[in-house]
Amino acid sequence: MSIDTPEELAAMRRVGALVAHTLRVLRAAVRPGITTGALDELAQKEFARAGASSGPADLVGFPGCICISVNEEVVHGVPGARVLREGDLVSLDVTPLLDGFCADAAITVHVGRPRAEAVRLLGVADECLRAAVRAAVPGAALNTIGGATERVADRAGVSVYEELTGHGVGRSMHEEPTVPNVFVPRLRRKLQDGLVLAIEPMIGLGSDELELRDDGWTIATADGSLSAHVEHTVVVRRGGGQILTSAA
Ligand code: CO
Repeated sequence: MSIDTPEELAAMRRVGALVAHTLRVLRAAVRPGITTGALDELAQKEFARAGASSGPADLVGFPGCICISVNEEVVHGVPGARVLREGDLVSLDVTPLLDGFCADAAITVHVGRPRAEAVRLLGVADECLRAAVRAAVPGAALNTIGGATERVADRAGVSVYEELTGHGVGRSMHEEPTVPNVFVPRLRRKLQDGLVLAIEPMIGLGSDELELRDDGWTIATADGSLSAHVEHTVVVRRGGGQILTSAA
């Protein structure tokens, strides 16, 4: 969607604040011994309290409230009985629907004491996201966003999964345009002030080949290598994307 009125901006700020709040609750709850199902219940509770529902559950029949992806799982991991262990790296992807509006963000969190390779990967992921958000300015070509992510990842020597992209968001969970995480020459469309985008670098330490797990949802690296996923919903603005989902 594109934000054209103060009411639309206020509604997107409300759902963005719910995303940020839920991510803060989840970050504080992540520890060795907790199950991904218990984290999902915490998110469900925060959504219910706010009068929101889960975008993935409502719109595409995802079997959970949020997506929780551990280590080599990149996105769309299904919450359940899995117990998080010291040194795991867990991505939490939160996408509520509130009063007809939707915001989408993800953080990746160390479980217990961080592993050095995971710290490095997360640092690169955050840098990718910052660069991509900075590129979301009116008049820039759509492909500069993915170009920014790709440049940071390349310099750091990590892979980007080309098949997995960001997207427009706001009135629904997935809207036009698709927002790749690499530079795609033909995507020269100019970004308009007020356009709402979910920008979400997904990067990893191994090959960029992916596989779909038997549960029909979880997308994981084919070689089992570690991955990370970070995401914000932003409004295209002069000076760089305005983040609606900051959990910092
Ligand atoms: Co998304």
